[in-house]
Amino acid sequence: MKDLTGKTIYLKDYAPPAYLVDEVHLTFALAPEATRVKSRIRFRPNPDSASRDFFLHGEELTLISAVIDGAPVTPKITEEGLTCPAPDAPFTWEAEVEIAPARNTALEGLYMSNGMYCTQCEAEGFRKITYYPDRPDVMSVFTVRIESDLPVMLSNGNPGDSGPGFAEWHDPWPKPAYLFALVAGELVNHPGSFTTNSGKDVELNVWVRPGDEGKCAFAMESLKKSMKWDEEVYGREYDLDIFNIVAVDDFNMGAMENKGLNIFNSAAVLASPETSTDANFERIEAIIAHEYFHNWTGNRITCRDWFQLCLKEGLTVFRDAQFTADMRSEPVKRITDVIDLRGRQFREDNGPLAHPVRPESFVEINNFYTATVYEKGAEVIGMLKRLVGDEAYAKALDLYFERHDGDAATIEDWLQVFKDTTGRDLSQFKLWYSQAGTPRVAVEETWEDGTFTLTFRQSTPPTPGQPDKAPRVIPIAVGLLGPNGDEVQETTLLELTQAEQSFTFTGLSARPVPSILRGFSAPVILDRQSSNAERAFLLAHDTDPFCKWEAGRALARDVLLRMLNDGAAPDRDFLGALAATLADESLDPAFVALVLALPSEDDLAQAQVDAGRVPDPQRIHEVREAMLDAMAEALEAPLRRAYDAHQVPGPYSPDADAAAARALANTALMLLSRRDGGALAQAQYDRADNMTQQLAALSALLTAGAGDDALRAFEAQWKDDRLVMDKWFSLQAAHAAPDAAATVARLTEHPAFTMKNPNRFRAVFGAFAMNQAGFHHASGDGYRLMGDWLIRLDRLNPQTTARMCSAFQTWRRYDADRQDMIRDTLRRIISVDGLSRDTAEMIGRILDA
Ligand code: PHE
Ligand code: ZN
Repeated sequence: MKDLTGKTIYLKDYAPPAYLVDEVHLTFALAPEATRVKSRIRFRPNPDSASRDFFLHGEELTLISAVIDGAPVTPKITEEGLTCPAPDAPFTWEAEVEIAPARNTALEGLYMSNGMYCTQCEAEGFRKITYYPDRPDVMSVFTVRIESDLPVMLSNGNPGDSGPGFAEWHDPWPKPAYLFALVAGELVNHPGSFTTNSGKDVELNVWVRPGDEGKCAFAMESLKKSMKWDEEVYGREYDLDIFNIVAVDDFNMGAMENKGLNIFNSAAVLASPETSTDANFERIEAIIAHEYFHNWTGNRITCRDWFQLCLKEGLTVFRDAQFTADMRSEPVKRITDVIDLRGRQFREDNGPLAHPVRPESFVEINNFYTATVYEKGAEVIGMLKRLVGDEAYAKALDLYFERHDGDAATIEDWLQVFKDTTGRDLSQFKLWYSQAGTPRVAVEETWEDGTFTLTFRQSTPPTPGQPDKAPRVIPIAVGLLGPNGDEVQETTLLELTQAEQSFTFTGLSARPVPSILRGFSAPVILDRQSSNAERAFLLAHDTDPFCKWEAGRALARDVLLRMLNDGAAPDRDFLGALAATLADESLDPAFVALVLALPSEDDLAQAQVDAGRVPDPQRIHEVREAMLDAMAEALEAPLRRAYDAHQVPGPYSPDADAAAARALANTALMLLSRRDGGALAQAQYDRADNMTQQLAALSALLTAGAGDDALRAFEAQWKDDRLVMDKWFSLQAAHAAPDAAATVARLTEHPAFTMKNPNRFRAVFGAFAMNQAGFHHASGDGYRLMGDWLIRLDRLNPQTTARMCSAFQTWRRYDADRQDMIRDTLRRIISVDGLSRDTAEMIGRILDA
């Protein structure tokens, strides 16, 4: 790999810290241009380290003074930190540094957002606040004093003394520096409380900017539900007197689990029926839960080093998915998670950015907060649970919490608790953590004398740095259906461990139809020859909701590919199967909406690659549109019935049932708008009293080519609401049209466009990157525009720039002209003087593979 600006860090080089920290005292004298940070730190030599090199991380700090045990010292300072002779015995370090939060546009360390001070320290941001051993295996108790005239001053742990101009906080739980947080500003709170299982009262607050206090109730309810759920399902109680959540507009990610002081992107907290969609409500509930669950999986038990990131993230994503499944619909959650996994993680695993769930090296750790670490990391835990069973999983988790509370742990520690509770050898299973790439599992079947045999072959394609892969343990859940649609074999778990393996089912009276990979029991690609008649049969009869949906999806993909490659017409049988699904009133409307949704243009591009073809983004768009038109025509009457039958009466409620009804009605609306010029959508737009209905109507109007007035009306209505305006930007950037790049360029000239707010930048360029036909337009305008803006953004915010580079990760799929144009853009970016380490690593990886 081309390594322009940074050195590569390897897992195999891990060494314990030379010094440990017992106590940290921090005093912040806040000022936008010159904040003074005083630290007093108790160090002691680490008995587990032979080194006595005293090194503290520190970046972009102005050191004012440094003292060891009362005597001034003159450390040697580099761009990465400082070194200094230190005693081989416990000692006290005192330092003062100056930083400028108002000039911090990277949104890492201490920065300002709308006049409010806030911090983001994960992964390595604390070193931009003061000199410190900024690594997760150094855990300590923090006491913090904040000095400022601002009315609200918060930090981790429990509140201590406070008075005019100052506030003190003490966090009794040892933690790594990445969990440190500080907030100060003119904030208002939405209060709440929770009584833990053992009777402790906890004060809860959601802190927001004045004016947003009406949008906090849902987050507060979600927090209480999460606290209750973690007690009931995992036996985990909260451990401080207070839990604060703060909403901030300028934030690189979704949210951050700082101990006792979660900081959230305001998009992941603020909710009201008028301004938030059903999808927003569900996401907010999930993120609140995710950050709260980190209190145990991440904070009480943290990671030894950043290679172990999936230890906390995979597990916490797995836990928040369980929570959402319990709060809402389990099948719908599973299916939407699989769609997301395939759309983001399989795509990553299949290209130049592929890396193991536990990476073995990195240049910039911020580049490894990926779908692979998070979502595949969660899938790996799901497989483990399936393999050992629910009871053993619960026991292993109890042991994990008991054994590792207070530790900075590793994946080895995690697997050991499973080994100790089940006696199972997990050495082969562990390959899921070290081998990148999505396994492909081909299956063949034979039927002879009442015996049905399934033969599986697994293989994993090469990924960067990993040409050869060993067979993995793959749990495959299988059921069998008889010819009349009855289930003749209920779900059973097959364990693949070899490259090739057969399983037989005996005593069957007729050849069954297999339902394979039920519940998506492993994150693999299943290759199976099947007829469309059989797929329609499974769509109609499968008892497993995932496989039922998957059958419909495979059918849709096949039909679309035949339209693309053979010029076939939209398939009548497929349309018939959709009609049957629409007519089945026993189905959850959210499930029906998922069956009606076609594979994305990106999915189809990948399907073309898998079939050995070069995808043509424009053609894919046209064919998919033709299919949607055909669906609208063939299903007009049942869609209209579904639309009418799923209007939700009464005031808006974000609950799962109401959201499911709206999901189906709005899917129907999107299709019907292809027939009526947008009349129904305009009517819905005019009467909408909630954002779900309003935004769906606006989107349908755009599809019908009749959205101009509504776009203007929407802007006039919502110009003062940043989060709603993000939707307005996004919708237009995502709208497929030959001149999409021109539309996006125009959006960047809108007075409300700003590069400084990551949500706004992503609303435009994140949406544009997903707009296949627009971004990949043959002119290359899309690539150039994206390149120009990534170069501009990199100077302000490397982290967000680097994440957006993944827009180019699929570039090898395309024809030579497009590849040339993308290569030019990538080279133009990487040759920028002073390009960030974050972006240089990403572009380097994308180019070299
Ligand atoms: N740890 C955060 C989460 O998963 C994500 C995050 C990473 C936020 C890095 C900010 C910076 O909840
Ligand atoms: Zn997380």
